[in-house]
Amino acid sequence: MKRRILLLLGILISLFPLDADEGMWLPVIISQKFEDMQAHGFKLTPEDIYSVNQASLKDAVMLFGTGCTGELVSPDGLLFTNHHCGYSYIQRHSSVEHDYLKDGFWAMNRSEELPNPGLTVSFLDRMEDVTQIVLKGFDPAVMTEAQRDSVVRMNSDRLMEEAVKDGKGLKASVEALYYGNQYYLFVFRVFRDIRLVGAPPSSIGKFGGDTDNWMWPRHTGDFSIFRIYAGADNEPADYSEENVPYHPKKFFRISTAGVKEGDFTFVYGFPGSTKEYVTADDVRYTAEVSDPRKIALRTKRLDIQKKYMSGDQAVRIQYSSKNASTSNAWKKWQGEAKGLLKNDAVGAKSRYQQEFAKWAQGTEYEGVLDTLHSLYVKRDPYYLAYEYYSETARAIEILQFAASVKTNLSDPKTMAEITERFFKDYYQPIDEEIFCAMMTAFDQELPDGSKPRYFKDKLAEYGSVEAWRDDLFGKTVFTDKAKVLALTEADAETLEADPAYEMYEEFFDWYNETLRPVVNGTGRDIRLAMRTYMRGQMEFDKEKQFYPDANLTLRVTYGHVAGYSPADGVSYRPVSTLTGIIEKDNPDIFDYNIPQAIRDIYAAGGHEDQPVCFLATNHTTGGNSGSPVLNGNGDLIGINFDRVWEGTMSDLMYDPDICRNISLDIRHLLFNIKEIGHADYLFDEMVFAE
Ligand code: ARG
Ligand code: GLU
Repeated sequence: MKRRILLLLGILISLFPLDADEGMWLPVIISQKFEDMQAHGFKLTPEDIYSVNQASLKDAVMLFGTGCTGELVSPDGLLFTNHHCGYSYIQRHSSVEHDYLKDGFWAMNRSEELPNPGLTVSFLDRMEDVTQIVLKGFDPAVMTEAQRDSVVRMNSDRLMEEAVKDGKGLKASVEALYYGNQYYLFVFRVFRDIRLVGAPPSSIGKFGGDTDNWMWPRHTGDFSIFRIYAGADNEPADYSEENVPYHPKKFFRISTAGVKEGDFTFVYGFPGSTKEYVTADDVRYTAEVSDPRKIALRTKRLDIQKKYMSGDQAVRIQYSSKNASTSNAWKKWQGEAKGLLKNDAVGAKSRYQQEFAKWAQGTEYEGVLDTLHSLYVKRDPYYLAYEYYSETARAIEILQFAASVKTNLSDPKTMAEITERFFKDYYQPIDEEIFCAMMTAFDQELPDGSKPRYFKDKLAEYGSVEAWRDDLFGKTVFTDKAKVLALTEADAETLEADPAYEMYEEFFDWYNETLRPVVNGTGRDIRLAMRTYMRGQMEFDKEKQFYPDANLTLRVTYGHVAGYSPADGVSYRPVSTLTGIIEKDNPDIFDYNIPQAIRDIYAAGGHEDQPVCFLATNHTTGGNSGSPVLNGNGDLIGINFDRVWEGTMSDLMYDPDICRNISLDIRHLLFNIKEIGHADYLFDEMVFAE
């Protein structure tokens, strides 16, 4: 018996060696991970992932807009991304007559596809280590950091200029990796005629809404479909009716073979930002101060919004998008703080630092941890005040509105637009209550030395935040649409005295003059010290393969399909099915009110196990939304759209036991194209793996 268990353990361990899962690797150096990937089920070669000489998978992956990923799935430029990535474009095409957010949108042929001015997609043409060139002319023995900066800037500018000079739609950037120990040049081809092809109704694309967001079990059909158009020469071009579908070098084949626990998966996309190598001070601030404080502030704000939303359909519509964006980070922070505490991330970092400090004695790295520590001591109170500024004063809608009206006074058209948009989604009782709640928190939770004089004076003058509120909301013009629309350039001066504008400006000046210099200054110094500490860590731990923190550059991450245990006695399976959608279906709750067609199909039988979402151990973060999730053959099996909230500490510390990315199973997408969109003509241009 014991031997059998040992044998089984041995097999399990060899199936999932522990070094896997964590890491966001630069595709250009993926050969360093090749053997490990192969051992886990990867069947291709590094050149299949990234090559400059031949078509490779990178040619089918794109930065969608400025913060999401997308992937090509046809020789005619058809692409998939998330519903939440296409959301604002779908919304812009929507009106009361045709509400594409609510009902979905499906082009039935190419002439019905909808253009999206401003939307771009960027493909990586090539990437290149340019560290030597970027640092050319910098002599650490005689030059200062400021001089280093200007050398870096000058050399980078030249590189970028050269990189884009022959080729249409090229855009280049030089990015610092490992805190500036390395520099890479990235050259992108940017397409700018991108048309909407299909989107499911929100009851599928956003199924479960913010209740299910960051959660498992999950049943969201989070996808939308677009097509890239190019000029007659197949190169990027401005929108034109003459443009033709883009014919890419590469697109993904689709695999409908399905996933099961243990299957190898990899994700190719643009993760936005992580901080895996920071010190215990940074982690402590995040886990013990920043996250809990911001969570508490947002809980107050969300509760106020919800109170009014639940009693009034119109208010619910007005605040649904605001409520969603407020709650997204709120929920993420909860998982992050909890995970960091549970994993004793601060303790782990501290123990590591002790070892590091011992090793660093007598080297150039001696003292770098002390430097970092004193920088955090200096930064933290200012940074906290800055976060309070963002989460309280800036959460009062009327103040932000006052500022944007004032800047646009000389442009009547923009001003009218801003005003219409603001009042369409503004409900004054919510704003008033948030004003009181946020100013009370600001007063009680920040030390007096960290508050602007203006705030203290106002509170003294009125005696209470309620009295201050009554006066401000009673006197400002910014709650009155007609009055705002009547404003002209001539009113600029009198507006200075408007209490909402005045409050906006006083808080902004305080931030700008008191907080910003310290926050930015210490931020710069921390980055600088981190450059040394990062280099030190890489020397200290020679065995370890380091991956650079995410910075919206193209990465590969790999892992396997796996459930997890969120709490003692609870274990999650890694796949969800249509049965779960039916279980959650509730016509009375907006986020769970599925299309009747789904109910009918399910009732007819045979769809109980129809797959919807799955979990895997791929190390992803914000920006990976819409990323292709691929099997060992590089075929598309899913679209990444979220992580489980218990694992969101992976931005600072990855834990293979609990960090999971959530993907839409590609078969749910295909199911929706057919059954909901009746747009299965799109299948003709896709290629399916046997
Ligand atoms: N949590 C995902 C992300 O960070 C999805 C957000 C959109 N969905 C939502 N229900 N708000 O972007
Ligand atoms: N939904 C996120 C995004 O928009 C991905 C979730 C995550 O942070 O991993 O990129």
